[in-house]
Order: sequence, then C-alpha cells, then structure tokens
Amino acid sequence: EKPTYILAIESSCDDTAAAILKNDKVLSNVVARQAVHEEYGGVVPELASRAHQQNIVPVIDVALKKAGVKREELCAVAFTQGPGLMGSLLVGSSFAKSMAMALNVPLIAVNHMQAHILAHFITEEGFDKPEFPFLAMTISGGHTQIVKVTDYFTMEVIGETTDDAVGEAFDKSAKILGLPYPGGPLIDKYAQEGNPKAFQFTKPKVPGLNFSFSGLKTQILYFVQKQTAENPNFIEENLQDICASIQYTIINILMDKIKLAVKETGIKSVAIGGGVSANSGIRKTLKDAEKKYGWKTFIPKFEYTTDNAAMIGIVGYHKYLKNQFNDATVVSKARIEL
Ligand code: KG4
Ligand code: ZN
Repeated sequence: EKPTYILAIESSCDDTAAAILKNDKVLSNVVARQAVHEEYGGVVPELASRAHQQNIVPVIDVALKKAGVKREELCAVAFTQGPGLMGSLLVGSSFAKSMAMALNVPLIAVNHMQAHILAHFITEEGFDKPEFPFLAMTISGGHTQIVKVTDYFTMEVIGETTDDAVGEAFDKSAKILGLPYPGGPLIDKYAQEGNPKAFQFTKPKVPGLNFSFSGLKTQILYFVQKQTAENPNFIEENLQDICASIQYTIINILMDKIKLAVKETGIKSVAIGGGVSANSGIRKTLKDAEKKYGWKTFIPKFEYTTDNAAMIGIVGYHKYLKNQFNDATVVSKARIEL
C-alpha cells in the first residue's frame, strides 16, 4: 500500500507552521513563532500577516527537508480555513491553493478547532488514541469549549465561554503582573514555585457547562492595585504565590465544568487540547483525575498543544481517507462552527 504524504499549513494567528505527515504519523512539525507581538502585549493582526508572508516559504521548505519528502511525493495539501485572523488565514490558504494546483493534488480545508481535538489521533509512541465517544476540552487563547466527540467529524459543543477564553485569562492576568505576552507560559513557570493557596480568588457563578473569565481578570486587577497601593513591591515579593493562586483558581474552574460534563453525559473519557493544555498544573490535575474519578484522560504531546500544523495534517489525513476535498473557491473564515 502506497503511503499518503500530506503537507499541512497552519497560519490562523501568530504562528506560521508547516508539517509533513506520512499517513497518521508526523515526519516533521515546524513552527516559526512571531516575536514581534511581545512588545505590544498582544497579537497585532497586520504584523502577523506580514510575518506569515515572510515565514511561510522557509517554514514549508524546512518541513519538507526535515521529513525527507520531495514536493512531487505529496498527495494532498491541507490548510487552516478558520477560525482565526482573516489576514493570517489568507496567507496560508493562498499558499496552499497555489501549491495544490501546481502539484495537481487535492486541497483540504481544515477547521482549526477540530484539529485541536483530532490531534489526539496522531500516532505517537507512548500516547493512546481516545475511543469514541469522548469529551474534549479545548482551551486556547481564542476558545474555551467542552465538546462531545462521537466520531472524527461529529462533534457537539456542550459548553463554552460567554466572554474571555481561558488563555486570555492567563495572558491578561500576566499583563496585570507586568509580564510580557503571551504570559500563560510565564504564569505556569512562576506558579511551580508558589503556594496555590496563598491568595484566594472567587470562582464565577455560571450555570451549566458554560464558562466566564472576565470577572476573574477584574478581580485580579483590583486585588493587585489594592496590594500595590499598600506595598509598591507587592508583585515582585509575591510573584510566585500570585501566579500559583491564579493558576489554581483557573484549574478549579475548568475542573468543576469538566466534572459536571462527565456527570451529565456519562462519558468518562476526557481529552484536552489547545495552547492552555500545555499548562503543567492542568496536565497534572487531569492525570490525577484518572485515579481519583476513574476517568481515562488524554493529554497531548507538548508540541501538539499550542498552534501547530501536525494537528491540521491529521485532520487532512482523515478527510483524505473520505475523499473530502475542496476546490480553489473555498474561502477562509474568521469564524466557523465546529
Ligand atoms: O492554541 P494556541 O497556541 O493559540 C490559539 O489558538 O489561541 O493557544 C495560545 C494560548 C495563549 O493564551 C497562551 O498564553 C496559552 O495558550 N498557553 C499557556 C501555556 N502555554 C500556552 N497558558 C498557560 N500555561 C501554559 N503553559
Ligand atoms: Zn489554537
């Protein structure tokens, strides 16, 4: 049987990424991070699309080289259709379209949110694939969703944020503490040396499986302002404890909802995905839940948590198997349903 080689391109936000898959195995997974946004405290769309334009050719070249695959061997080109920043999406889609046309291979449009979930179906040593049905909690800089997954392409959002995404809660908290963007990984780093119970923050009261994070951000802002008025060195002196307490609160909010989702659906198989699933506290808490609640949990390999093209490639592969192809008229979409 001839193997299927897929080139996947991801450019929905501020990372330019390309991957080569051989069937459901990843041969290469390359990401060019854009440092230009750090000094602005957030992603600047105009700068993001310009950086994508500069990065996309070298990133694809490196991905092909690392994989040891020639262009002519490619069987399909998969790309992120959305959701994401329009200018960023357009760089990836235009490139994917011309490449598929030039090589005369199928073009496959991929939903970024499905990709965060289906990343669990990449064959990877030491990682099990979930069996259907399972619950997926997608936690990223743009999304916070609990999804009931009954098949590769049958997914239902059963809970989501009503305001900020959980990644924004991390990043905005970090900004309040004077940390650079994106602050999520830094909160994680400092939290590892702090006391999670040093400061108490209250959890929002949101009915059902939905989330809200904007109140927490305001609460942290007022808390820090008040403490700093009393002691100008409050942040420096307590950074680890503040970060640990913020992270602890966020993890509790997420765990409360996923526990409720397990109870309501009777599904005890829980997967996480998206940038925030890189968080060491969340990974540990979810792992502990296996013993504590008898769940089966799926925690992605670190490099498949934050935005990457390997996850776009695995969706591409499963669509390829079903002959689900697109023609060059397919349009990028800033918002798409799951
Ligand atoms: O999935 P992703 O790369 O991009 C989006 O689609 O949004 O997620 C990025 C988000 C950012 O908010 C970033 O701060 C957060 O993931 N993040 C983390 C960690 N690593 C990345 N948040 C907490 N702890 C981490 N270790
Ligand atoms: Zn993402």
